[in-house]
Amino acid sequence: MDIAYTVEQLRDAVTDAVRAPSLHNTQPWRFRLRDGGIEVLVDASRRLPATDPSGWGVRIACGAALFNLRLALAVAGTPARVRLRPYPAEPDVVARLVPDLPRRPTPTEQSLHAAIPRRFSNRAPFWPDPVPADVRWRLAEAARAELCWLELLIGVSAVNAFAEIARSAHRVLERDPAYRAERTDWVRTEPAPDGVPAAAGGPQSEPQDLLPSRGFGGLDRAPGRDFEPEPLVAVLGSAGNTAVDQVVAGQALQRVLLTATDSGLSASMLSQPIEVPGAREQLRLSLGRFGTPQMVLRIGYGQPGSPTPRRDVDEVLELPVHP
Ligand SMILES: Cc1cc2nc3c(=O)[nH]c(=O)nc-3n(C[C@H](O)[C@H](O)[C@H](O)COP(=O)(O)O)c2cc1C
Repeated sequence: MDIAYTVEQLRDAVTDAVRAPSLHNTQPWRFRLRDGGIEVLVDASRRLPATDPSGWGVRIACGAALFNLRLALAVAGTPARVRLRPYPAEPDVVARLVPDLPRRPTPTEQSLHAAIPRRFSNRAPFWPDPVPADVRWRLAEAARAELCWLELLIGVSAVNAFAEIARSAHRVLERDPAYRAERTDWVRTEPAPDGVPAAAGGPQSEPQDLLPSRGFGGLDRAPGRDFEPEPLVAVLGSAGNTAVDQVVAGQALQRVLLTATDSGLSASMLSQPIEVPGAREQLRLSLGRFGTPQMVLRIGYGQPGSPTPRRDVDEVLELPVHP
């Protein structure tokens, strides 16, 4: 068994890790080698103070990056053993990965890993075709495999009740000028290594839309081009809501997203009802579930699109300095 990861292994795995989603594509993560282990750290300078006052979004993003890192190391034949929040005195260290016994990657690891560069947030309308039951089961199983749950809303009335909660959370957020300013600051109309490209932001919203969109969009909408009438809405939840639970939920989120991509599905995220505490509680009660909702997904068959940019790997690596 290898006892230490190398800089090359770190660099290769981080290339996949940074493909993870993050609030407004802020990419709030850093990676380093320490005593032969790979460590994932939050980059607190990239937290959005108005949108993410508690750091929930940063920890979800770092959890998603950690899941990609685990996949990359497993597929390279150097799987990791992971400890979350390994140093109580250093809460910025989200996870530490040390080499485990070498083994062949599983077919699931291989297919999820292959999906990493193809995944992106698709905010455009999806085709109305329903997602088959076996694929829904696969998505829920992906969340369970990472110790979370995924509740797929069934029936028009459940989706309408959710939409009501989401729209009211959206209105609450929109009243805050600092929240609106942060969103404007992170929309990119010129090529940039971070932020949400205007072209990826989805179409302009219209009054008849069932679900609120974050409002990155500026794309003109063809007349009559509406969103799918019965969207598949899925709520991802974790057992609790500690910092560790949020990192666990981030890993589960990425596993669900990659499973969706591997199944030929598109997804977008909708976190307004998670960011407003009253709405989050209402959502939890409406689901009748223990635990805490951590993310909402809209899933379906989408038009092709392209992944959004990321910063260079060297910008997120902290390498040891040799004297
Ligand atoms: C914690 C979190 C919350 C998010 N909330 C939303 C949201 O409310 N609306 C939205 O359109 N995208 C949301 N996203 C998606 C990000 O905007 C997206 O991941 C980022 O712009 C990078 O683009 P990509 O997913 O295409 O790689 C969220 C992502 C994360 C990790």
